[in-house]
Amino acid sequence: MAAKNLVWVVVALIVGLAAGYAASLPIQTSLNKQVADLQAKLNPNYVEKIKAKGVLVVGTSADWPPFEYVDKNGNYAGIDIEIAKRIAQELGVKLEVRDMKFAALIEAVKNGQVDIVLADMTPTAERSKQVDFSIPYYFSKGNAVLVPKSKLNDFKDVTDLYGKKIGVQLGTIQEDWAKSALGSNAQVISYDRVYPEMVMAMQRGDIDAMVLGDTIANVLIGKVPDLAIAFYAGGSRIGAAVALPQGAYDLKYEVNKVIEQLLESGDMQKIFDTEIAKWMESGG
Ligand code: ARG
Repeated sequence: MAAKNLVWVVVALIVGLAAGYAASLPIQTSLNKQVADLQAKLNPNYVEKIKAKGVLVVGTSADWPPFEYVDKNGNYAGIDIEIAKRIAQELGVKLEVRDMKFAALIEAVKNGQVDIVLADMTPTAERSKQVDFSIPYYFSKGNAVLVPKSKLNDFKDVTDLYGKKIGVQLGTIQEDWAKSALGSNAQVISYDRVYPEMVMAMQRGDIDAMVLGDTIANVLIGKVPDLAIAFYAGGSRIGAAVALPQGAYDLKYEVNKVIEQLLESGDMQKIFDTEIAKWMESGG
């Protein structure tokens, strides 16, 4: 082969290689992105980000004493708010409470509108498809059915709810229970907020009974004398956990650490006792 031809072969080879390389660039970029995404998933930096912004944004539904409510001075108060304060303290940041309807909380964690949720939220399999949960910080006796005290004798078990109007909070496990246990045998009415809205609806006679968690039911009957607990039905023994974004392992570690320490030191019980007493005295 003449030397001239050899030069052309080499040139063609170089051009070919360069073109091939250029063509592979988008593949490399997308691969790099996938690797970076995977690395971020394995080493999440939620804690770092919260520290950098200096504030922990906690989503709640402040209509559910003694876990969360708006006190006489217009401040958010209750058990979950106290636990949230400890978590913010542990992270060395300020606490911002964002009040929204309970049914909107899961989405708010998913889209980053809030960092975590404390709302007496029960960890369920269905919710775990969308968010992660901390270890539980509260155990429950299940759902309580509340009725007007004057009608207490008419309500002995689930079948006594047939043909009645039953109030529940939208998006809660109490709503799930009422719908599946009663089906078309009763009219289940879902409210966005429980206290005071749903309680007032009950006092007006718009509904015949309400299905709530055991703790809120027990504090309500102390505060609203014409209400009584008829019976307990369904619900979950595991009461509440903190909801976090899926894969926020670093944040979950910090949250679990605070909860563990509160449980082990007996401070969790103190928070419950103090906050229940506070609500009973001054309330919302
Ligand atoms: N524990 C129930 C649930 O997770 C009810 C929680 C309602 N919480 C509230 N802040 N309104 O479905």
